[in-house]
Amino acid sequence: IKMWWLLLLGAAASRCLHEETQKSVRLLRPPFPQMSTHFRSSILPLPGSPEPQPLRIQTHYTRGPVPSEARDLDGEARALAAVKETTRRIQGILAVLPVRGPLLLSRDPAQYCHAVWGDPDTPNYHRCSLLNPGYKGESCLGVKIPDAHLRGYSLWPEHGLPQLIQPDGPGVQNTDFLLYVRVAHTSRCHREPSVIAYAACCQLDSEDRPLAGTIVYCAQHLSSPSLGHDDIVMATLHELLHALGFSGQLFKMWRDCPSGLSARENCSTRKQVTRRDEGGQLLLTTPAVSRSLAKHLGVPGTSLGVPLEEEQGSLSSHWESRLLQGSIMTAAFDGAQHTRLDPITLAAFEDSGWYQVNHSAAEELLWGQGSGPDFGLVSTCRNGSSDFFCTGSGLGCHYLHLDKGRCSSDPMLEGCRMYKPSANGSECWKESGLHTRAENPRGEIYHMHSRCFLGNLTSQVLSKDKTSQSSAAPLYLEEGPTGCCYLHQCTHKGAYEVQVKGSPWIPCLPGKAVQIPGYHGLLYCPQGRLCLSEGVSVATSQPMSFTTQDLVFQLSLRLTGTLGHSLGKGQREELAEVVLEALVIRAGTSRCYFYSPSITTSLVFTVSMWKPSGCQGPSTAMLHRTLTLILQKKPLQVHHGEAIFTTEYSKLQTSLDHSSSVAELLLYTGFCLLLLILLGALGTLAYQKRARLQVEPSTT
Ligand SMILES: *[C@@H]1O[C@H](CO)[C@@H](O)[C@H](O)[C@H]1NC(C)=O
Ligand SMILES: *[C@@H]1O[C@H](CO)[C@@H](O)[C@H](O)[C@H]1NC(C)=O
Ligand SMILES: *[C@@H]1O[C@H](CO)[C@@H](O)[C@H](O)[C@H]1NC(C)=O
Ligand SMILES: *[C@@H]1O[C@H](CO)[C@@H](O)[C@H](O)[C@H]1NC(C)=O
Ligand SMILES: *[C@@H]1O[C@H](CO)[C@@H](O)[C@H](O)[C@H]1NC(C)=O
Repeated sequence: IKMWWLLLLGAAASRCLHEETQKSVRLLRPPFPQMSTHFRSSILPLPGSPEPQPLRIQTHYTRGPVPSEARDLDGEARALAAVKETTRRIQGILAVLPVRGPLLLSRDPAQYCHAVWGDPDTPNYHRCSLLNPGYKGESCLGVKIPDAHLRGYSLWPEHGLPQLIQPDGPGVQNTDFLLYVRVAHTSRCHREPSVIAYAACCQLDSEDRPLAGTIVYCAQHLSSPSLGHDDIVMATLHELLHALGFSGQLFKMWRDCPSGLSARENCSTRKQVTRRDEGGQLLLTTPAVSRSLAKHLGVPGTSLGVPLEEEQGSLSSHWESRLLQGSIMTAAFDGAQHTRLDPITLAAFEDSGWYQVNHSAAEELLWGQGSGPDFGLVSTCRNGSSDFFCTGSGLGCHYLHLDKGRCSSDPMLEGCRMYKPSANGSECWKESGLHTRAENPRGEIYHMHSRCFLGNLTSQVLSKDKTSQSSAAPLYLEEGPTGCCYLHQCTHKGAYEVQVKGSPWIPCLPGKAVQIPGYHGLLYCPQGRLCLSEGVSVATSQPMSFTTQDLVFQLSLRLTGTLGHSLGKGQREELAEVVLEALVIRAGTSRCYFYSPSITTSLVFTVSMWKPSGCQGPSTAMLHRTLTLILQKKPLQVHHGEAIFTTEYSKLQTSLDHSSSVAELLLYTGFCLLLLILLGALGTLAYQKRARLQVEPSTT
């Protein structure tokens, strides 16, 4: 089996040509015991019930006959570092019944033997009668296997004892899989210049579990700066997973072990692993992958086969990329950043019957999550039923929101389109010199914590004469929504805030559009894409550029209500609007100061306050102070449906230093409450002092 793992450099997808070259390697299995004089029990387990142990992969690096001056020591080091990391990672994921004693590989009789005895009546029937004089030893995908790793072989007379030509080697201790590694400029690397590496499995054990394989790195890529260590590790992982069993040629050898790995006697070879559905789509139908896909798509209990990518009618060794975009085992690869070792791929290894799988090592696959059984079909990907796909060729965001993207297709998407990172500098998370240009009407920020957001934000074209601002018709950069890079920080699971150049942090309600102080237009907050893990990341500080006059306040009010039950998300959004309305009326001011009202489940109402240009009235600080005093004197009462809510106490928060930890944030809240008490005496001076501590002079 040969596997190709192609990476078209730059942001474009790569292709794996596994099927094309698959047939050229002969898979060797250990000889049957009765046919070998040199049979050792190294492959079969000893009696007793062994327990699965982490897969021990031994790597053997072969330099090959390359003249030393042509060697790329740096590239070799990069490849070996990636192999080391990958094998260590796999060890935490896959366990096998350990090979007892040294691992010894088989020789191919078709290679060393020219003829065998053909008379069934002779005792040495079918044994080697004539050696192949040209026998050069065994190799695995071009790598010569050392005699030390191999069984010996003999020449047999018609009757009687054999003549030992080569004894068994010592074998390799403490090893369940032997991986030969080669870094070279092979003819395949020349023919397919975008191939980084390719791999093959060469030997199986008596239960068909892969025992040995080779990975070949195309040397020219290892010195390419566009390929990071993580990319090489991911390419290695992909190849190694092929060699360990994720392969069209090996699927049909997978085993069904209903009593677990340890009960080998109860395992049997799976009869049927693939089928075609009504639409002609090839599916892998083994139980664990089907369950895992059903769970992923949010339809647990249904039995879905997992679609496989088909290439030119040959065996398929990849997931269909329309359905499992971003999985390590799709044929397309567009960099480690966008690739996940997903649960469905791990389920496949469980289905192989050779491995016990640590499923907690799986990485979340976002693509298609919870999208239902019709997701990813050629017939539905263009009808707008899923926002993972797009139509046209506009600009937007790649689904992971790390990159801006253009709506486009590739041969494996079969006409479906998605936002693919394409243009140079589309990575929001990369702070590169590309983005330091002066005009930035959309207020983009490229930063490690930046993500792509769809929106049509634009700062008004600046008019030097501030007094004429409100009368003159504002000039906008009129364009449709597009993907832009803005800073984000997670507040808790599924919740986050965004920051646009010069703006405060604004809570971004997933699935909603928010306004940003200082900008016209809207920013759309993606749902189910950002801040999905429990950990809360606090973005590092970003240079701010607003003046004290622009200072942002946050007003938080606790509500007490007559409500007997907790409010749903939609109800809370409604209630937030009602509270804000009442607040605006009470303050006798304009709505233009207030942004992104929200209410938590524990009934804390929060709204950001900021005075954009064109908003008539007092300064934000003044308004904030007025509101606080008003609310202290007389609580706000709002009616919502049957219920009545009253504000309990109020607190205020100025915008905080963004590098502050959550603990500091709580401290500031306390500090701000204290400020409130002093407020009458100090007036706005207190705010301004506080403000000057954390903002930098405006740059414009
Ligand atoms: C299983 O995977 C998790 C996550 O990678 C890891 O922390 C844990 O140690 C693994 N368990 C074993 C037994 O290797
Ligand atoms: C193998 O299967 C048989 C019949 O289902 C069962 O009785 C036996 O306990 C199984 N063996 C092991 C080791 O689980
Ligand atoms: C898209 O097609 C699917 C399947 O035919 C259908 O269930 C769904 O309602 C369609 N969606 C839209 C928005 O047309
Ligand atoms: C991308 O930008 C880099 C740095 O400016 C440049 O060297 C490279 O040629 C660009 N690539 C493309 C495809 O435009
Ligand atoms: C932004 O988009 C919204 C909705 O599509 C539209 O109502 C608004 O006019 C747009 N604003 C700008 C500044 O383009």
